[in-house]
Amino acid sequence: MRVIECSSQDQAAELVAAEILAALRQKPGLVLGLATGSTPIGVYQRLIAAKRAGAADFSRVRTFNLDEYIGLPADHPQSYRHFMRAQLFDGIGLPRHHVHFPPTDGNDLPGACRAYEQAIKSAGGIDVQLLGIGSNGHIGFNEPTSSLASRTRVKTLTDKTLADNARFYGKGEAQPQLATTMGVGTILEARRILLQSFGTKKAEAIRQAVEGPVSSFWPASALQLHPDVTFFLDADSASLLTMREYYRRVRKNEIELGG
Ligand code: GLP
Repeated sequence: MRVIECSSQDQAAELVAAEILAALRQKPGLVLGLATGSTPIGVYQRLIAAKRAGAADFSRVRTFNLDEYIGLPADHPQSYRHFMRAQLFDGIGLPRHHVHFPPTDGNDLPGACRAYEQAIKSAGGIDVQLLGIGSNGHIGFNEPTSSLASRTRVKTLTDKTLADNARFYGKGEAQPQLATTMGVGTILEARRILLQSFGTKKAEAIRQAVEGPVSSFWPASALQLHPDVTFFLDADSASLLTMREYYRRVRKNEIELGG
């Protein structure tokens, strides 16, 4: 695992965007796993800027989002389909049929979830998976006690997650309690994983994910089993790490060696 403590959220976004753009140059038909929430917005802005500057071509890229709420129509301002259109897809001119979201309706949701897994496989698997983290250590919507081998399925959101995300809903506006999410097992199959975390609210989740035991109680700790995962943290999210000085030294060496 690489743990990079960044000087600012902007620097983290810059580094992650640079990794994605480099991967895109290597493979124009890149398959991206994408996250929502406030954390990845800086990365998305940089990808849009690269496209506008003529420095990146997303026409062959295919995307698979981690999760989506059940019960919100695609044009609802809080739906992740709406979020992704507004924050990224419209800005990079991604062909509509290259965009995929986990299924949230229909009379055979388990079957549709299996089809989502199959669609990822048919695309050749996810090359680069972008992740945020919940304050309870969730990735996607894999809440604590999610099986570390889980696949795309419906999850009930915890009180903690509902409280964390309540800020996006108006007073009296119904907040979805269920979501479809890629499983932890699905996420672990991505070739490369880039996780960003900002703020003190996430510091305990980061400590558990990076230095805690692998446990379904902190689903992000499953990333310890992945051979190519990088954590991009601000100082607040890194604040509880026991080996913080060591990660800084590793990074310094990496830069000196041209990384
Ligand atoms: C939601 C999403 C996660 C995201 C998390 C953190 O729960 N399902 O994928 O990582 O929020 O959100 P934020 O980046 O806004 O802190």
